[in-house]
Amino acid sequence: MAPHELKSLVRTIPDFPIEGIQFRDITTLIGHGEGFAATVDWLAEKVTASGAEAIAGMEARGFIFGAAVAARLSLPFLPVRKSGKLPCDTISVDYALEYGSDTLEMDPASVHEGQRVAMVDDLLATGGTACATAKLLRQAGARVEHAFFVIDLPDLGGAKKLEDCGVAVAALMEFEGD
Ligand code: PRP
Ligand code: MG
Repeated sequence: MAPHELKSLVRTIPDFPIEGIQFRDITTLIGHGEGFAATVDWLAEKVTASGAEAIAGMEARGFIFGAAVAARLSLPFLPVRKSGKLPCDTISVDYALEYGSDTLEMDPASVHEGQRVAMVDDLLATGGTACATAKLLRQAGARVEHAFFVIDLPDLGGAKKLEDCGVAVAALMEFEGD
């Protein structure tokens, strides 16, 4: 499927979760089998070209795509979780979201020193989630140079923020005017 066809599978919900936000909803994309597979194919190709040895996905929507790509490529999947979910000793980072703030945690033992880890998430908005994740992964010893997204909202400046964090960005599709 062509990128414009995949873009047409993303549903836009106006005024969610707050007035003035156009919510780009991937439920309809992953609910389309062929569309989901083509999206995972695109991400897998990018991850392979990046030379990544493992994939980190951010809870929750990053798990959907990150885990699918990791399984497709037989790479390890590193779950980066919202706070209080992991049973082991964790490292954590606080971060600001497009609306609100949160904490991400991971098991530092899941990363090898110097391991090349690519981040995969559904959407890049301000870049706060991905920058915080890069920080966390680096704290655990990972080398983090690439992030791959299904959707980029370029008006929110996430790609620039990530580049400033030393992370190159690629996205399958963009929605402008957000
Ligand atoms: C959403 C989205 C990205 C993040 C992007 O996650 O899935 O992870 O926001 O925003 P940012 O670039 O401004 O950080 P969110 O935590 O809202 O929801 P989720 O748990 O459904 O993934
Ligand atoms: Mg998310």
